[in-house]
Amino acid sequence: MRGDSNQITRDYFDSLLLETRYIDAILPNTEYKLFGETFATPIMTAALSHLHNICDNAMVEIAKGAKDAGAVHWVGMGEPEELEAILATGAQTIKIIKPYADNEEILYRIKHAVNHGAFAVGMDIDHAFTGNGRYDCIHGLHMRPKTQTELASFVQAADAPFIIKGVLSVSDALKCAEIGVAGIVVSHHHSIMPYSIPPLQVLPDIVDAVGDQMEIFVDCGIESGIDAFKAMALGARAVCVGRDLMGPLEGGAAGVTNRILELTGELKSTMARTGMRSLDDMEPSVIWHRPI
Ligand SMILES: Cc1cc2nc3c(=O)[nH]c(=O)nc-3n(C[C@H](O)[C@H](O)[C@H](O)COP(=O)(O)O)c2cc1C
Repeated sequence: MRGDSNQITRDYFDSLLLETRYIDAILPNTEYKLFGETFATPIMTAALSHLHNICDNAMVEIAKGAKDAGAVHWVGMGEPEELEAILATGAQTIKIIKPYADNEEILYRIKHAVNHGAFAVGMDIDHAFTGNGRYDCIHGLHMRPKTQTELASFVQAADAPFIIKGVLSVSDALKCAEIGVAGIVVSHHHSIMPYSIPPLQVLPDIVDAVGDQMEIFVDCGIESGIDAFKAMALGARAVCVGRDLMGPLEGGAAGVTNRILELTGELKSTMARTGMRSLDDMEPSVIWHRPI
């Protein structure tokens, strides 16, 4: 397919090269702090859903896998009962709610998630349209784009940090900052639109514009700890991994844990070899751009 944003994103990752800085280097700590909690790694699960074809109780297994790896767990679309089972695992979970046409449904799901112990909540604003000129309808549920005023009302209603997922422009990032969101996920939702800009290409401009006002996360196409490193060197505070966890998920929670640990090990080695002594040291001057 022409314009496959996943391929364009992969090509962009591969165009970013790293210089090394061995002198005075150490094996760094990957401890990561978010909203007052401490995690072992900045590599998090993406907001996933509907994976029952991969293993039994897949969404709960992902939560357990993230918890055992000391990682932040994100979850996407799903029924309230499923979320309750996920939260009962004790995984620190960020619940991403769809942009339902019905704002009452959104407010209900925000309150439900927070009351059952979600660590933070948010919305994937990029799931409102189909590619053929219609509003999206997922499993019979109608979606609509949200105005900045509507989003502000969700931020206000949530008694927890509120995150907007699916930001791919400085323009949207500034609108998020104006309404006081706690964080954004720079993402094209694994190519929801062809020819989307790779998240890492727009990330530095977004970080310049709003990086001192909120947490900035990245997802899309992260398949190694080196990919995670590149995102974080360019200004992401942490990254979400989705499709790369699908194979490991066949092994249930243990498969997810092992994969997160593996990615974290690769991240740690890359930090060591580039002279980054902690996550706070991450900065972009180690990255060289090779023309695509
Ligand atoms: C099976 C599957 C289900 C997903 N469900 C959701 C969802 O319910 N809500 C959401 O915000 N994103 C959802 N996503 C998108 C991911 O959160 C993520 O943005 C995207 O997959 C890009 O990351 P990746 O390239 O690491 O997979 C889903 C992705 C996959 C692969």
